[in-house]
Amino acid sequence: MKPHGPIPPAFRADASGMLLIGGDRAEALADAAGDTPLFVYDSAMLTARVAEWRAAMPKQVQLHYAMKANPYAPLLALMAGLVDGFDVASGGELKAALASGMAAAHISFAGPGKRDRELEAAITAGATLNLESMGEGERALSIAERLGVVPRLAVRVNPDFDLKGSGMKMGGGAKPFGVDAAAVPALVRRLIDAGADWRGFHIFAGSQALDATAIADTQAQTVTLAARLANDIGAPPPLVNLGGGMGVPYFPGDTAVDAAAVGAALAETLGDRDPVLANSGFAMELGRWLVAEAGVYLTRIVDRKTSHGETFLVTDGGLHHQLAASGNFGTVIRRNYPIAVASRFGEAPAETVSVVGCLCTPLDRLGDQVALPRADVGDLVAIFQAGAYGATASPAAFLGQGPAQEMLV
Ligand SMILES: Cc1ncc(COP(=O)(O)O)c(C=O)c1O
Repeated sequence: MKPHGPIPPAFRADASGMLLIGGDRAEALADAAGDTPLFVYDSAMLTARVAEWRAAMPKQVQLHYAMKANPYAPLLALMAGLVDGFDVASGGELKAALASGMAAAHISFAGPGKRDRELEAAITAGATLNLESMGEGERALSIAERLGVVPRLAVRVNPDFDLKGSGMKMGGGAKPFGVDAAAVPALVRRLIDAGADWRGFHIFAGSQALDATAIADTQAQTVTLAARLANDIGAPPPLVNLGGGMGVPYFPGDTAVDAAAVGAALAETLGDRDPVLANSGFAMELGRWLVAEAGVYLTRIVDRKTSHGETFLVTDGGLHHQLAASGNFGTVIRRNYPIAVASRFGEAPAETVSVVGCLCTPLDRLGDQVALPRADVGDLVAIFQAGAYGATASPAAFLGQGPAQEMLV
């Protein structure tokens, strides 16, 4: 038997043992969707999560949602009313962000390899470009000149440090992201001299960290770096985007980030900041911490079989919707995501089984030798922490399977 990750404590069952999501029975949600597999996102949990962040963080820090984590349109529309801005990573996401109702002035666009048409769309809309290189800066300036508009340009800084313990390191050393810190002052002076509306710095050192101290230390280094750059440039940044980094507990032994501790440390860091940043705004940019826990992936068991003494529950879902849960998206060693039998939620385990998907590859495993209550053909399996990097971060078209249903409740 191998352990699975911790099931988010907010989830409950009804009297019959059926998992409830947003107050609705999992089976009723699958009926309403008309088919499985199905992603369900709980709007009350999303709202509560944003409220938790705001209660923990200093009032002056804005909250930006990195929509790459989950761009489902009804969820985006909800988030547009809850957060202070969106971070987008492509022209497609920019379009979706604008359609959600988020004002262009509160949208920033980071990501390497922006094409000219994407730069033009952002400049035309009035969104802020987080420039990833000197070359991108020059292309943005010449596009803006051709259009006859003043572009809103910030510079993404490749810091000389990374976020310790993070699942994904986005700074420290040679990186395709951002401009090396040493080269930033020259680029910002060039932008200001060219008449651009310089919006400040974007400094994203890493993501999926659970250690509040590591996140707080990185934020302190980020504020120090922003001050040093501002002093070199001789102009204060209107906004310092501190990046994100707050992760969620996916695996056995993981524990939730202590958001209050991150907030308390950040209040201290900002209280002690260099005077050059006295009038600067600050933001954090979070994806998965905001949306992962509110999402559940429901997949139905279509076969139950044994092979060489091992029991397999074969489902209609798989890695084409849940690449990360299968262990094939950014993890070195495969470990089990939080998983349960939806109709026997909270019941004691009765057997050890492997839950697999319907793809003809040994990679398609949603639960490897997990202890679960007895489940049969027709039962629903629930994978938790499924609200981020699921539907759009998985190869839905692989083997002609197609996308999952999605629902916001
Ligand atoms: C620039 C940028 N912003 C935000 C995020 C979102 O990270 P997370 O979903 O872990 O909060 C990422 C993730 O890679 C990123 O690269």
